[in-house]
Formats: sequence, structure tokens, C-alpha cells
Amino acid sequence: MMSKKMEEAINEQINKEFYSAYLYLAMAAKAESINLKGTAQWLKVQYREELGHGMKFYEFMNDRGSKVVVKAIEQPPVEFASVLDIFQQTLEHERKVTALINALYDLAVKDRDYAAMVELQWFINEQVEEEKNATEIVETLKMVGDKGAGLVMLDRELGKRE
Ligand code: FEO
Repeated sequence: MMSKKMEEAINEQINKEFYSAYLYLAMAAKAESINLKGTAQWLKVQYREELGHGMKFYEFMNDRGSKVVVKAIEQPPVEFASVLDIFQQTLEHERKVTALINALYDLAVKDRDYAAMVELQWFINEQVEEEKNATEIVETLKMVGDKGAGLVMLDRELGKRE
């Protein structure tokens, strides 16, 4: 049986994953509005991945016989200053999510909840990937600049994400 504290914490994380999805969808909408179709594509794939993360926790809760509570999702920002701003916020956001996942793992260790530890290991690996991807894009944008030909080229690259 999962502890009450763990149950509440995972329900909170489900909400955070869906907020992440919403945040990336808001960013995608901004990219579409300035005709950066590739950037929008990358962000829409990210949006779907976050829905997948939320659902992975949802299924885990059900498999463990725990009660899922679906909470209200906070509204993400509407405006972003630039493409660099979008990806800097992405990186910052993913670092926060990593901290949340690590805190969940700490709780699983404290609870001796071995099933949760195994489940959370998937998310720990996923966060390494999430931070790496965002860092690479931020670094590239700093190199090529977030305007003009460099941005057009990067936008084309980002559009290849499936
Ligand atoms: Fe669900 Fe981007 O971490």
C-alpha cells in the first residue's frame, strides 16, 4: 500500500505534469503566432510527452490501488519575449520538475516504497534527457542568435522532432 503522503504527492505531480503540458502548448501557440512552425512542432511533441508523463503516474496510482484526484490546472503565461526566452523558461521549468521528482524519490526511500522507487527511476532518467534537450537548444540559440538566418535554420531542425 502506498502511504497517504505519497498518494497526495503523486496526485500533485500528476497536476504538475499536466501543467507542464499546458505550458508547452502555450509556448507552441506563441511560436505558431510568429510563424516558427518547427519550434511549434517541437513544443507540441513536448506537450504530448508531458501528457504521457501525467498518464504514467495516473496508471501507476491505479495499479497500486490508490485514489487519483484530478486537480485544477494553473494557467500558464501567454506572452514570451523571444525564442531564447521560451527555451530558457523550458530549461528552468525542467530543473524545477527534476527537483520535484527527486523529492518524490526521497519520500519513496523514506517510506521504503520499492515499487515507487522503481517507477520514479524512469522519471529520473527522463529528467536527465529533458534538461539535456533544453540546454542544447539554449546553447545553440546563444551561438546562432535568436533572429534571422540562424533562427530559421534552428527552426527547421526543431521541426524534425516527432
Ligand atoms: Fe514531465 Fe518535462 O517533465
